[in-house]
Amino acid sequence: MHTDQGGKKRVFAPVAETARLTGDIVRLVFTAPEIAAGAQPGQFVAIRAGQTEAPLLRRPFSIGGCDAQGRIEIVFRIIGAGTQLLAAKRPGETLDVIGPLGRPFEIASDVRDSSIRGQTDSERAEAGIPCLIAGGLGAPPIVFLARVLKSRGNRAILYYGVRTKSELALLGNVEKDVARLVVSTDDGTAGHHGVISEVVAREIREDACIYACGPRPLLAALIHLARTRNLRAQLSFEQQMACGVGACMGCSIETARGYQRVCTDGPVFPAEMFFPPQKTHE
Ligand SMILES: Cc1cc2nc3c(=O)[nH]c(=O)nc-3n(C[C@H](O)[C@H](O)[C@H](O)COP(=O)(O)OP(=O)(O)OC[C@H]3O[C@@H](n4cnc5c(N)ncnc54)[C@H](O)[C@@H]3O)c2cc1C
Ligand code: FES
Repeated sequence: MHTDQGGKKRVFAPVAETARLTGDIVRLVFTAPEIAAGAQPGQFVAIRAGQTEAPLLRRPFSIGGCDAQGRIEIVFRIIGAGTQLLAAKRPGETLDVIGPLGRPFEIASDVRDSSIRGQTDSERAEAGIPCLIAGGLGAPPIVFLARVLKSRGNRAILYYGVRTKSELALLGNVEKDVARLVVSTDDGTAGHHGVISEVVAREIREDACIYACGPRPLLAALIHLARTRNLRAQLSFEQQMACGVGACMGCSIETARGYQRVCTDGPVFPAEMFFPPQKTHE
């Protein structure tokens, strides 16, 4: 059963699968064809975690993928009461879900297919192709975007940074959907030893289109990169939410164009909205 709320739907969705990806990271799949039909990468769902009053507020989670059966995947870290309740759900139990919510990534019309010249000619082949960047729990919407881009003939380069090797499990089997996967770990257990923005700064081409989601320091580094190298970039922000539908201003973030609500004006924003204002000379 569902009620339409202006494009978004409220659905009582049966849980299809749950799995622990690491000690505190869970993949949960539920069936909601009414939401899946309109879902785009960058959008999120708001889930009522409990069946009692606590926790009262819905919890937002990025849509990590949808399949032809109308199943929607989310991946989350257990950090408090809401995510603990969700982690305990078992197949057949029902979730109260609203979605799809928020502004998705806008796929640039001139992104190129990295397979045109093959991966061996990497310097030339990677010109103008989508460059996906994720850090930690920023992976789900970026993995969803990688799969949508692939289905449109645009295999992307994916840069992914995590704290330690075991967290690479968040990517699932996305490697087959991208042209190249570059990883970094804070502790050096896999890939580049350090943060992923260091690799991106070294490798990024001037004509790349960036799509990113991750922690604030990563987004801040990408805003700096986009400003100093004149790159196109779309960034997905997380912010604690209350109403989730634009009514309370509780999720506002400051941008160069004033305060913006992450839940309805975002969560995806163009990087230039965070460039410092130009100094005017008299
Ligand atoms: C658009 C959007 C997409 C999101 N997608 C994902 C996702 O794909 N996977 C995922 O694991 N999480 C995601 N989050 C964050 C997720 O919503 C929170 O982790 C969740 O609401 C926590 O609920 P809780 O009841 O377990 O914790 P709470 O008890 O509500 O909070 C526990 C602690 O975490 C802090 N906290 C809660 N939410 C956030 C937040 N958004 N940012 C920083 N600190 C927070 C609280 O201040 C508190 O200290 C997303 C958030 C937004 C806004
Ligand atoms: S959470 Fe209420 S306006 Fe965004």
